[in-house]
Amino acid sequence: MGQLETADVVVIGGGVIGLTIARALALRGVRNVVLVERANLGAEASFAAAGMLAPQAEADYADGFFDLCCQSRDMYPTFAAALREETGIDSELDQTGTLYVALTEQDQREIDHRYDWQVRAGLSIQKLGPIDAQALESCISQNLSGALKFPNDIQIENRRLLNALVAANEKLGVRLMTGTTVGSIRSDRGRIEGAETSRGFISTGTVVVSGGAWSSFIKVLDSPIPRIEPVRGQMVCFGSSQSRPCIARHVIYSRRGYLVPRLDGRVLAGSTTEQAGFNKVVTASGVHSILSNALEISQRISDLPLVGVWAGLRPRAQDSWPVLGPSGEIQGLVFATGHYRNGILLAPITGKLIVDAIVDNVVLPDPAFGPDRFANVRVNR
Ligand code: GLY
Repeated sequence: MGQLETADVVVIGGGVIGLTIARALALRGVRNVVLVERANLGAEASFAAAGMLAPQAEADYADGFFDLCCQSRDMYPTFAAALREETGIDSELDQTGTLYVALTEQDQREIDHRYDWQVRAGLSIQKLGPIDAQALESCISQNLSGALKFPNDIQIENRRLLNALVAANEKLGVRLMTGTTVGSIRSDRGRIEGAETSRGFISTGTVVVSGGAWSSFIKVLDSPIPRIEPVRGQMVCFGSSQSRPCIARHVIYSRRGYLVPRLDGRVLAGSTTEQAGFNKVVTASGVHSILSNALEISQRISDLPLVGVWAGLRPRAQDSWPVLGPSGEIQGLVFATGHYRNGILLAPITGKLIVDAIVDNVVLPDPAFGPDRFANVRVNR
């Protein structure tokens, strides 16, 4: 196949990460950005996600990953407002906050620990007894022994966010090539030459690998790339009942599941964590475990109409941390993948770090996220 075109940067993958990077590049003045997506834009893990921006609710200690997640969460009000300004699309950033409920003795020990270390770290967190927690959200089970409130852990309607990102890229003149696979990335003497796609060769000096769970299918000639595995997460969606408003306003977590109330009255319940290859089916056992965990949080779920189920494939690197930044081996090869459970959360900081690296040669703040950390264990499929 012949040469299709040339680009300043080729971004591989049209999920939340690729779209955020492409937009950020265009906003920084990179003129000829081409985004190549194997299927449809924002149709995989980013679409399946629940949109929780809740690093504190999930963390047992502070480390570089936690700091990265908190930084990205705190970028969201500006990020969502800018997208709204650019596109007119409201991503429904909901800053009500997150509750983490204790329903067993083990849960209570866990939330006590989480409260202690986060208070010591100066983070915003509140401890609630059962009466105060139920005063905030009356739907929570009577079996509650206590809860934590994380005022800064918020949520966004991820599907609206994706629509906004697509519209922003279109307005900025990013070329969005859907239904196009990248078989390999070509390099010569340690420098990127371009991407071989199913529609022809795109000549470029810079390629960003942001293909989510499909990232490791891309062959990089002369250099193995980090292995990214799919981890299935199933989801269940309830509609609002005609007679009653949404059952909750906060995102509500337990150790076993979560409920995410949307502004339109739907409630999402998640999720499973399964090694099932690239099989995105929804299973009876998956739905069963999500429903029992959701019902453990709130019996009121039982009255709601079940309006949807779906599954997505989270992209996980071997150590479950994202893979971010330029390759040390091939000049112009940049990674932004492996965001695992945190793709929506980490999109704004990923966009910033990757664009700083490409445009200004800024070195990533923490080498623990770099692609070269897998030097001895990388594979190509
Ligand atoms: N971020 C939530 C999940 O992956 O289930």
